[in-house]
Amino acid sequence: MGTKSSDGAVLSETTDPTHGVDEEPVVEIVAREDFSDVTFLLEFRHPMMAKAAKPGQFVIVIAREHGERIPLTIADFDRDKGTITLVIQAVGKTTKEMQQTCQTGTTLFSVVGPMGEPSHIGNAGKVICVGGGLGAAPVFPQARAFKENGAYVIGVIGFRNRDLVFWEDKFREYCDEFIICSDDGSVGIKGLVTDGIKLAMEKHDDIDEVIAIGPPIMMKACAETTRPKAIKTTVSLNPIMVDGTGMCGGCRVKVGDRIQFACVDGPDFDGHQVDFDDLMNRLKRFAEEEKLAVERWSETCRAEKVS
Ligand SMILES: Cc1cc2nc3c(=O)[nH]c(=O)nc-3n(C[C@H](O)[C@H](O)[C@H](O)COP(=O)(O)OP(=O)(O)OC[C@H]3O[C@@H](n4cnc5c(N)ncnc54)[C@H](O)[C@@H]3O)c2cc1C
Ligand code: FES
Repeated sequence: MGTKSSDGAVLSETTDPTHGVDEEPVVEIVAREDFSDVTFLLEFRHPMMAKAAKPGQFVIVIAREHGERIPLTIADFDRDKGTITLVIQAVGKTTKEMQQTCQTGTTLFSVVGPMGEPSHIGNAGKVICVGGGLGAAPVFPQARAFKENGAYVIGVIGFRNRDLVFWEDKFREYCDEFIICSDDGSVGIKGLVTDGIKLAMEKHDDIDEVIAIGPPIMMKACAETTRPKAIKTTVSLNPIMVDGTGMCGGCRVKVGDRIQFACVDGPDFDGHQVDFDDLMNRLKRFAEEEKLAVERWSETCRAEKVS
């Protein structure tokens, strides 16, 4: 059932049944929940990984044999149940395919993790945990860890509209204050997460740290909001990753005057030092290939439906 590194992390897990004559696929999906037509939750069973997982880490999933490797943040873990939770947005070929095929009772071909440096949950007295859209999921374990460490936690979560909101109850359980922001004002305050941060900063002049996770443009805006007051701001970067082990260089990011690999040096970095424009440019590198892959896959799906 996977191999272990010297520090106890689970390095690899394969579900390939050909690996052992009697071996059955083991990474079973035990729960699925759909939050909207593009966002869904998968919970899979992996007791060893659940034991090793820490906030801020991610896994690399291959959903089916010969499938693509994709990094996904550990949005939650339950050591008692031995499960890991992922929240996925169907944006391209692989995630759309997973949205169709990954159901409760099915299996994932391979999951590697937990990977990356865990978030530093220090002894901050007061923190703002900010999640934009899908970013609400990965920021949740950090909010919980800060709360469990005794911090006063202010949650600021932003969505386009009321229909996209998820995990409000989970955040309310661990946040001392909770602000929902929506683009259209259909829930919470009308505005962006940066408006939520400003509200919290006006009320509290003793914020020690802001943790912001979401699209790069959002994290950049959060970092600019806190910069004038020099509040430590940590962001979680999502560059394109291939191996996830520091070997390919695909995930390199500019942080201050240093080049870092997000998969092994991060994914958390000092938001005031990150070159977000470089990150956003690098994320666009394969746009044409990604578009073609979705088109080809959609065509195959249509042909399968007809036949
Ligand atoms: C550390 C990390 C954690 C992540 N956590 C989550 C998560 O919890 N939930 C979630 O929905 N998404 C997460 N992502 C992004 C997710 O990996 C991509 O959305 C996914 O790989 C897209 O694959 P696709 O074939 O569906 O789409 P594609 O059409 O191939 O790509 C869509 C967009 O996703 C990005 N992307 C594509 N391939 C990769 C790759 N190998 N690595 C990273 N980004 C890629 C690119 O920006 C691209 O424009 C995370 C990425 C990183 C680096
Ligand atoms: S993904 Fe290859 S070096 Fe980080």
